[in-house]
Amino acid sequence: MAISKTLADELEKRRAAALDGGGAKKAEDRHAKGRMTARERLDALFSKGTFQEFGLHAKHRTRHFGMEKKDIPTDGVIVGTGFVDGRPVAAFSQDFGVVGGSLGEIHSKKICHALDHAVKAGIPVIGFNDSGGARIQEGVGALAGYGQVFYRNVQLSGVVPQISIIAGPCAGGAAYSPALTDFIIMTRENAQMFICGPEVIRSVTGEVTTMDQIGSANAHASISGNIHFIADNDAHAVALAHRLLSFLPSNNMQDPPHQVEPDLSVVDDPALDELVPEDPKSPFDVRTVIQHLADDADFLEVQELFAQNIVIGFGRIGGIVVGFVGNQPTVKAGTLDIDASDKAARFVRFCNVYNIPIVTLVDVPGFLPGVKQEQQGIIRHGAKMLFAYASATVPKITVIMRKAYGGAYLAMCSEDMGADRVIAWPTAEIAVMGAEGAANILYRKEIKEAEDPASRSKELIEEYRQEFATPYLAAGELMAHDVIQPRETRSAVALALRGLMSKRETRPPKKHGNIPL
Ligand code: HXC
Repeated sequence: MAISKTLADELEKRRAAALDGGGAKKAEDRHAKGRMTARERLDALFSKGTFQEFGLHAKHRTRHFGMEKKDIPTDGVIVGTGFVDGRPVAAFSQDFGVVGGSLGEIHSKKICHALDHAVKAGIPVIGFNDSGGARIQEGVGALAGYGQVFYRNVQLSGVVPQISIIAGPCAGGAAYSPALTDFIIMTRENAQMFICGPEVIRSVTGEVTTMDQIGSANAHASISGNIHFIADNDAHAVALAHRLLSFLPSNNMQDPPHQVEPDLSVVDDPALDELVPEDPKSPFDVRTVIQHLADDADFLEVQELFAQNIVIGFGRIGGIVVGFVGNQPTVKAGTLDIDASDKAARFVRFCNVYNIPIVTLVDVPGFLPGVKQEQQGIIRHGAKMLFAYASATVPKITVIMRKAYGGAYLAMCSEDMGADRVIAWPTAEIAVMGAEGAANILYRKEIKEAEDPASRSKELIEEYRQEFATPYLAAGELMAHDVIQPRETRSAVALALRGLMSKRETRPPKKHGNIPL
């Protein structure tokens, strides 16, 4: 017996009403501003025809403020699963066209379903945030809804990758859900993220500011460090999410999507010999080194505009997915400061939790000196780097290119901090501090009393450099496992990585370490 026309029509009518969302006029307004609707974002995210929706017929049950008569299609959020490059992914997309994408009880239940499903299925989850915040008519019920989402964001952390796309307003406490996820992509225009807006700040503290200064993608990418990528528009945000996923495993029990090449031979790259100036004070762009090491020079830089004195991101070497961490000599001479330490430490922990080997490129003169740095806790923040590297059990390969001084040498994953392979270039200087500083401390009296203090100082600095500022002392004491020509680096790292693919390192069981926060 076939399904009756009445029943079939009823379903189609309900489907059409729900799929219409906020209606054609609101969709047109969005398009006029170069923006996608919530549903179009999911269409762009998933391979055609693979989206399976959850809760299309969801209904709110608010009885206040005349809401009982109000129909809210999908309750303002579209949820489901689909496929990206053949891999399943869960997603939700808040629909600003429907009561401003505001979050109420059912809306939050739907997001929670996406998160619960992601953890059960062991698949990544992507959330498009575009919402006026807690649905005002639902009061504390909406607050509880946020609590349930936050709780799950934390439970999923370290189990499946979570990516947030901020593509509209994300205000007040609502911003803490994306903040609890692994990566935040934010569109350059039409998106704002803040805890207290300019109006609240002015009335409470008297400070005058603008949304651009505190809540824009640019402010978060370059000043607060809250986000990881700026997207030019919705389509670019989706493209960035696709690219990010291409480096990530679906869950913490899997390896990342390596594309290991069967051929083990890797040719030398003579350009690397030319790249790094011998003079330790002449800067070079570490991103160029990374591009020479990465397959097809393909490097996805993370947090490109924040704490630019350290560079982090994903690539492949010999097909193996790696996380790169490199000091950037062109910015603050590549010193480690508070922001750089936070940035690198979090990245190292992300790589570790998702089985991504770490390649660390070192040219570091030390921690950044300064009253502000000391007072704001460079000790606490710098300690995060030591903590993150020492607790990481993934393969760790360190290339010491030039300076590796003092505590910063240890913080950049030295052999004593657990590096599996340490390779130094002939230009490497592994020492307690730079030759100038060391000679001036050791021979202060002698320099002061010399006939020509300037030239004596120069001589002593050179003597110190000859004696200590080379890779061979460290290599002699097995702190560097080999000294190689820069041109050999890609082969050396590729082979070391291949040899470490089955690395197993276990630690005593514990709830979790107590990383300095
Ligand atoms: C219910 C909401 C809403 C909300 C927007 N709308 N926000 N409905 N609850 N929180 C509705 C509007 O009434 C309107 O409905 C539609 O969405 C579009 O909103 P507009 O104001 O017309 O849009 P726009 O001019 O673009 O302004 C966007 C906005 C503004 C800046 C986001 O809507 C706004 O300020 N909203 C309130 C933000 C807020 O204070 N939220 C609560 C924060 S507290 P119609 O029917 O006219 O289309 C919070 C606590 C969370 O979120 C704590 C978590 C721990």
